[in-house]
Amino acid sequence: MSHHTTQRHYDQHAGVEGAAQHWRESRTKDLRRFHNNVKRRMINRLSFNTEQHVDIACGRGGDIRKWCDAQIHHVVGVDLSPAQVVEAQERAQLIAEEYRSRGQEVATRCEFFHTPNLGVRPLAWPRQFDTASCMFSAHYLFHTRETARNFFRNVSLALKDGGRFYGIFTSAQAVLSLLNKKSEYRSELLRVRQQWEHDYASFGSPYTFAILHTVTNDNLMADELGEGTPEYLTFFGVFTKVAAEFGLYPDTAFDWECPATQRWDRQRDIFDRDPPYRKHEGFRYLRPRYDERRNPRDAADMATITRLYAAYVFVKDTRRLQSERAREEVVQIPHDAARLYQPGEAEEQAAARAVAAEQGQQEQQVEEQVDDDGDGGDQGGDQGAVEKKPKQEGHREEAVGPRKHPDQHPDQQLQAQEQQQGQEQAAQSRAKRRYDESQ
Ligand SMILES: C[S@@+](CC[C@H](N)C(=O)[O-])C[C@H]1O[C@@H](n2cnc3c(N)ncnc32)[C@H](O)[C@@H]1O
Repeated sequence: MSHHTTQRHYDQHAGVEGAAQHWRESRTKDLRRFHNNVKRRMINRLSFNTEQHVDIACGRGGDIRKWCDAQIHHVVGVDLSPAQVVEAQERAQLIAEEYRSRGQEVATRCEFFHTPNLGVRPLAWPRQFDTASCMFSAHYLFHTRETARNFFRNVSLALKDGGRFYGIFTSAQAVLSLLNKKSEYRSELLRVRQQWEHDYASFGSPYTFAILHTVTNDNLMADELGEGTPEYLTFFGVFTKVAAEFGLYPDTAFDWECPATQRWDRQRDIFDRDPPYRKHEGFRYLRPRYDERRNPRDAADMATITRLYAAYVFVKDTRRLQSERAREEVVQIPHDAARLYQPGEAEEQAAARAVAAEQGQQEQQVEEQVDDDGDGGDQGGDQGAVEKKPKQEGHREEAVGPRKHPDQHPDQQLQAQEQQQGQEQAAQSRAKRRYDESQ
């Protein structure tokens, strides 16, 4: 299992027609509402009125309204899946239009990028951020020690000194006790299946995970559970240890009492009062509160799912790093850092490739893959290709973009342009429909 499997899974989940309506009626509606509420409260407590925030593994931008409501000035979201990033961008535009139609200006500027390199090598962050979040995603990065190390290095590189890193992930301890030494746990709403052989380890112990009517299931509209997405056992102790290598430490000063921010929301104590096993500072399990009278069929099942998740709040403190070299690693973005891709860039490249193929142009023009850093080399099909350009010394961005055809007939160029415009229009009307459905 690799991040290509994860990318394919999440690409397929972007832009599903009718999803919003379906979700409103789904059996896991209350679960999503509770989890959204936990995220909202964390964002309000930790990033309220913040200048610069980065959301790592931002998905389809499901948190955009939360960032706007928290009056964050500028948010950068990054994700592995190009399709999810395109959807996040479309969603941000629609939300901004909605504000304008009410005579308001949205105060939060959102930018989205996709990258296959979060767990692979340093990223060329456009700036340093005051706060960083990673919601429901850190467990994808514990594939190997190296992916986890690269992940934390990238988080730390993104943050200013003193900045907080927070999020929610699936706890390995909770998964293991749910499995209770069996290889599979199955209920009507959740399926978890061990995929590691023999004994589990600190890194690289995969399991598949599917919650009904959520992006983790194979088909989010299906009324039965599929195999789900691969995740990796993520232990509190391992998380803390690897984070510390990059100057990220549990924020022991954080007050976990996150008051309700909505009138309809009366839930108190959304987190456990103590750290897990009383020793893992910086973490708290989520505390489910589903109403059994309102939902006798699914409340207990949803509570079991919510108890698998733990929240964390860490802080970057480079003074605690032992060596100058370690400090440099999390302060200085290296010259050969991987660039971040704009939404739609991959699709534009794929469209340009398709046109070129139709015209019988030779694929030999394609000499370099977008991601040529030798991390296995097999980038997903929609990563596209680039013209080979001499590398510029000290320049962080690699030259990537839609392939140009200088000797292309103007009619062919027009045809390519029209195809591109047609796709953009189709994407816009798709996004509009989805948005209408979600209202
Ligand atoms: C369960 S979704 C969570 C999305 C969003 N944070 C939220 O709370 O709604 C997991 C996300 O993690 C992303 N992801 C998984 N592995 C990743 C990686 N190696 N780099 C960046 N994003 C990754 C997936 O593409 C997906 O969008």
